[in-house]
Amino acid sequence: MNLISIADLCKEDIIRLLESADAFKAQRGHHGRPLQGKSLAMIFEKPSTRTRVSLEVACSELGGHPLYLSAGELQLGRGETVADTARVLSRYVHGITARVFSHNTVIQLAKHSSVPVVNALSDWEHPLQILADLQTMRQHFGRLEGLRVGWIGDGNNVCNSLILASAIMGMEVCVASPAGYEPKARIMKEAERLGGRIEVVSEPAQAARGVDVLVTDTWVSMGDEAEEAERLRVFGKYQVNSELMRLASEDAIALHCLPAHRGQEITDEVMDGEQSAVFEEAENRMHTSKAVMAWLMSGPREQYRRGFCASGAFCKS
Ligand code: CP
Ligand code: NVA
Repeated sequence: MNLISIADLCKEDIIRLLESADAFKAQRGHHGRPLQGKSLAMIFEKPSTRTRVSLEVACSELGGHPLYLSAGELQLGRGETVADTARVLSRYVHGITARVFSHNTVIQLAKHSSVPVVNALSDWEHPLQILADLQTMRQHFGRLEGLRVGWIGDGNNVCNSLILASAIMGMEVCVASPAGYEPKARIMKEAERLGGRIEVVSEPAQAARGVDVLVTDTWVSMGDEAEEAERLRVFGKYQVNSELMRLASEDAIALHCLPAHRGQEITDEVMDGEQSAVFEEAENRMHTSKAVMAWLMSGPREQYRRGFCASGAFCKS
């Protein structure tokens, strides 16, 4: 089993992972160490604060040994193939996480690896982030089904995973993006197939009105730097600010995967305000990562490719 797309999981998988993450959160410092004697290779083609640190700490606290591998310092950076890298790493470690520019790289890693591979952000999706977002929403509202979510800004990797997760969990999403930056047709089609209720609009106010959760992300994702000037021009009004928060429901929360560009896609007032759940969301990256690793990596090696999980209850493999 791999976690490449959030849609690799079904509703029951996600609920079980969130329950496990809640338990790890409540029992921090006292929980078991199911990764004792196991190692995790963490490949990074791009910078990271939350993903790197939360995975490293999560792995250590589960008793495992995390290895940070900057792609540029691996032979990968000198032309060794992704497939050969996957084959070799699989003989040493018990799991691989990869933050990559091209989604195809993480797919190739998974194809040629004999241990679980987890997408730690690609240009297409960020499933680990969305699990933390779901944990945050569920802790705040006590449920996910029926929640209304407004996404303000770029129809990017994080937005894609949010759209798919919402479709799986029975949440409604309204995305407000500038023309040309809406979520891609392939994601919309997949969300529709999953029974999603997704609306795409052009005005931020339309996406914010009455929602339970307002979410945004940077206007310039890693890899989009060459378009920075154009993006800063186009995205100007796609900002989560106090005025926009007032349109949301009274007890709405604001989420942002971080890093935030304060004053661009989100204001200080919202980030540091009472309705902000962004730092809880950041913390939850660690608890949800523990749940994912305990699920994917705690069983015997020979069971990895058969969709083994600790409880035996995950329904997709
Ligand atoms: N949200 C997130 O993935 O942050 P990092 O880029 O710091 O890992
Ligand atoms: N969309 C952002 C997310 C960073 C965590 C990026 O890809 O850079």
